[in-house]
Amino acid sequence: MILMITGTRTGIGKALAEYFLEAGHDVVGCSRRHATIDHPRYRHHEVDLADLGQTKKMFRSVRQEYGKLDALVNNAGTSSMNHFMTTPEEVSRKIFDINFFAVLNCCREAVKLLRKSTEKSSAILNVSTVAVPWAIEGQLAYSASKSAVEQLVRVMSKELSTFDIRVNGIGLPPVHTVLTRSVPRSKIDTLIARQAISRQCTTDDIVGPVEFLIGRQSEFITGETLFLGGVH
Ligand SMILES: NC(=O)c1ccc[n+]([C@@H]2O[C@H](COP(=O)([O-])OP(=O)(O)OC[C@H]3O[C@@H](n4cnc5c(N)ncnc54)[C@H](OP(=O)(O)O)[C@@H]3O)[C@@H](O)[C@H]2O)c1
Repeated sequence: MILMITGTRTGIGKALAEYFLEAGHDVVGCSRRHATIDHPRYRHHEVDLADLGQTKKMFRSVRQEYGKLDALVNNAGTSSMNHFMTTPEEVSRKIFDINFFAVLNCCREAVKLLRKSTEKSSAILNVSTVAVPWAIEGQLAYSASKSAVEQLVRVMSKELSTFDIRVNGIGLPPVHTVLTRSVPRSKIDTLIARQAISRQCTTDDIVGPVEFLIGRQSEFITGETLFLGGVH
């Protein structure tokens, strides 16, 4: 398979890219800064996904090199934890630019290449968060942007079904990454205690469900967001 995974410089995106490379796939990754993966089947694009021009340029280059994509994993994201009363408008807009509009733009550009996939059905997978179902205080813009992504999953799954492109989401509880390093340990522990499986999610817990949701085993699943860890 030829996969595109966004946000592969650090964290979950990097772990996913390394897993799929190890499994023998070609991986196209991106982030604003330089690559942290060095592998013959890995291509890195330095792009700010909040910039549509840069995003289009990256997809043009993918088309020239590979001519198709089999899966897109929209993983790149950002967050800012603050009471909404003290969150400046530009911070909320930046969160939506990256977490929602960049996802929408990547989907639109990727569809042209996913339609050329030789797989029975190609797939888009978007990363969501426990902050949506648990409506976590201090994460208004972040959780609202990911709620929008979950709605995108539902609507887009219908709009792309005629092209045999499936659209799903994966909802994650707290994972130890750059994104969460400033969150107090006590707050993370409180969230973990609410999970049915009350231990911290690791990237090893994520790769299998991602592989399932973009692969042949889930050919009859679309429009769903699957939460890990027992989040209800
Ligand atoms: N960690 C958690 O507990 C958790 C829980 C639930 C959901 N999630 C979701 O999981 C996803 C990955 O998060 P993570 O925890 O792995 O965070 P992370 O370590 O901060 O990784 C985010 C990645 O996205 C890239 N990125 C950020 N803004 C970008 C932009 N404008 N354009 C291009 N690339 C950009 C970053 O690279 P550059 O800095 O080089 O751009 C980085 O590679 C996010 O969607 C997040 O919301 C995380």
